[in-house]
Amino acid sequence: GAPLRVALLGCGVVGTEVVRLLTTQAAELASRVGAPLELVGVAVRDVSAPRDAVVDRALLTTDAEALVDRADVVVEVMGGIEPARGLLLRALRGGASVVTANKALLAQDGPTLYAAADAAGVDLYFEAAVAGAIPIVRPVRESLVGDRVRRVLGIVNGTTNYVLDRMATDGLDLAAAVAEAQALGYAEADPTADVEGHDAAAKAAILASLAFHTRVRLDDVDRTGITGLTAQDVAWAARTGHVLKLLAVAEQVDGPDGGALDVHVRPALVPAGHPLAGVRGAFNAVFVEAEAAGELMFYGRGAGGAPTSSAVLGDVVSVARHRVLGGRGPVESSYAELPVQDPGLARSRF
Ligand code: HSE
Repeated sequence: GAPLRVALLGCGVVGTEVVRLLTTQAAELASRVGAPLELVGVAVRDVSAPRDAVVDRALLTTDAEALVDRADVVVEVMGGIEPARGLLLRALRGGASVVTANKALLAQDGPTLYAAADAAGVDLYFEAAVAGAIPIVRPVRESLVGDRVRRVLGIVNGTTNYVLDRMATDGLDLAAAVAEAQALGYAEADPTADVEGHDAAAKAAILASLAFHTRVRLDDVDRTGITGLTAQDVAWAARTGHVLKLLAVAEQVDGPDGGALDVHVRPALVPAGHPLAGVRGAFNAVFVEAEAAGELMFYGRGAGGAPTSSAVLGDVVSVARHRVLGGRGPVESSYAELPVQDPGLARSRF
């Protein structure tokens, strides 16, 4: 088939790895898609900033709008709300397929993007927005769509899991462990987003929306981070047969009108024998309980340039194949508002 024009918005840690895969695996990707993927430009803030040699400087541009307008597939890895939001709406309205890793944008304004994708009849894919390399968006969004999800329990922030692990195994204090996570490249630019649970709350909102077919936004998520925890708390948990984990939980609970959802992020005492207790270091895991499927666990690397780029490229191939062969992925534009939200209602049980 004719080449598909791919535009990349953002060229940080993840964007650079996306360029690397598009370049080094061009032949395999073309055969999987049924047409070559042609990277037509990379929108950045500063074209003169130092970059990995894999990025062809001739592709760099600061005019993201013009780039979006000549793309079939727009890949957004810039993060943040604006200008990402405006650019993705422009792309969707112009008929381009969109792949994004932007958890903050999806958690805050996902319904607007879903509606724009639906109206234009194009794909909006975002596997990389939750738990990096771990396939969790597709399983919840597509594989389990015929089942009824009861509960989702996730370790979806690598930084806090790394920090709690270091506090438990080596008695490090919080600040020292956070500094290590930063040095390893797991933490957000502002690690407050990790330790206060904002990053996990965004991912919880996205997963809850998909699992329960409803609109859950960042503000609906009751959130407590790990900054109040001391090495003593972590040690006490161990003495009582538990492991302290920052869990993102979305759970169907009984409400006044029958069904309600509790979506929260908070430190939880996970019994040492539970599969989530064994998730060490910066790894992520999502434990799903569904009516027919039973218990499922998804485990892997939730952060980092190469792992996240794997999820991005999987989405690029999927949306590109739809452009070549016809058809499209799921849309969430018909979702209802979150029925009831009472953060105090439910307690995680194991
Ligand atoms: N700061 C995030 C984490 C990166 O630690 O998991 C991935 O979203």
